[in-house]
Amino acid sequence: MQPGVLTVRAFAKINLSLEVLNKRPDGFHNLRTIFQTISLHDVIGIAVSPGEQAVTLESDLEIPGENLIVRAARAVLAETGVSASVHFRLEKRIPMGGGLGGGSTDAAAVLLALPGLLGCAIPLPRLMEIGTALGSDIPFFLVGGTAAGLGRGTELYPMPDAAGGFGLLVLPDVHVSTPDAFRSLNRGEAPPPGPQVSLTEQAGLALAAGDPSWVGTCVNDFESAVFARHPLLADLRSQLESAGASPARMTGSGAALFGLFPAEAQRDHAAARITAARPVPFELLTRQEYRQRRFASPTGQ
Ligand code: C5P
Repeated sequence: MQPGVLTVRAFAKINLSLEVLNKRPDGFHNLRTIFQTISLHDVIGIAVSPGEQAVTLESDLEIPGENLIVRAARAVLAETGVSASVHFRLEKRIPMGGGLGGGSTDAAAVLLALPGLLGCAIPLPRLMEIGTALGSDIPFFLVGGTAAGLGRGTELYPMPDAAGGFGLLVLPDVHVSTPDAFRSLNRGEAPPPGPQVSLTEQAGLALAAGDPSWVGTCVNDFESAVFARHPLLADLRSQLESAGASPARMTGSGAALFGLFPAEAQRDHAAARITAARPVPFELLTRQEYRQRRFASPTGQ
């Protein structure tokens, strides 16, 4: 193999809709969700050189536990059998513990970029298996765009791109632990009784048909439990709604919230008014944009 360097963008996701059905024998929960990639991203510099196998990471932020980037890189080295030293430089822009998939997208970016740098290829179905073993959101980031997620969230069905809109994230200074959020839902082994076609399925069907009414049936099952512990989040969602966002929802298990606005001026007006949390404008990324914008210039801009 040749020495090489590459800079990639790792984009965040929101869950346009998210239902948690029931507890599975493996300890995870069955979900129904609609994932969507957005323009907010981390920047990862990757440098590889031949030599003894080593993986190092430098970052502007302290990351607790063993970083998913390092675990993804070790998995790629094991899969390809290449002996190389891999160094990462992570510029973290996606807040951690926000429900935006920050750790998962970094890992997926490594799974997508590193094999090529090492002069190897790993077929997508195998990358999906490796991603699933590392975390439930990672397979989605191997696909990007708009996609339905079932099972653990790892069974993916790519969907037509969700129509535009002007996005606003609000990032309150609240950290929600994902395992705690799942536990607080207290789901049993049987799915809760509900309509034959769930709200997320209704939203997905409308979205796929290009019917703008999809925004009206988006839900997030974590909201009531998380809002009960952090009333600020309910207040922020109301502020997004009264500023004209539809949908306005929490993403994942929180604590970030998003709103989609029909006009840019409306979005910018809301961003100026919401001061109790950091507002970050964003755009939805189609699957094609997700692929094309992944490779950044060495400065990451
Ligand atoms: O797969 P990941 O490491 O992202 O999951 C973090 C935690 O979230 C799991 O350990 C589990 O407690 C919970 N989880 C779940 N059901 C899912 C996804 C995650 O219970 N479908």
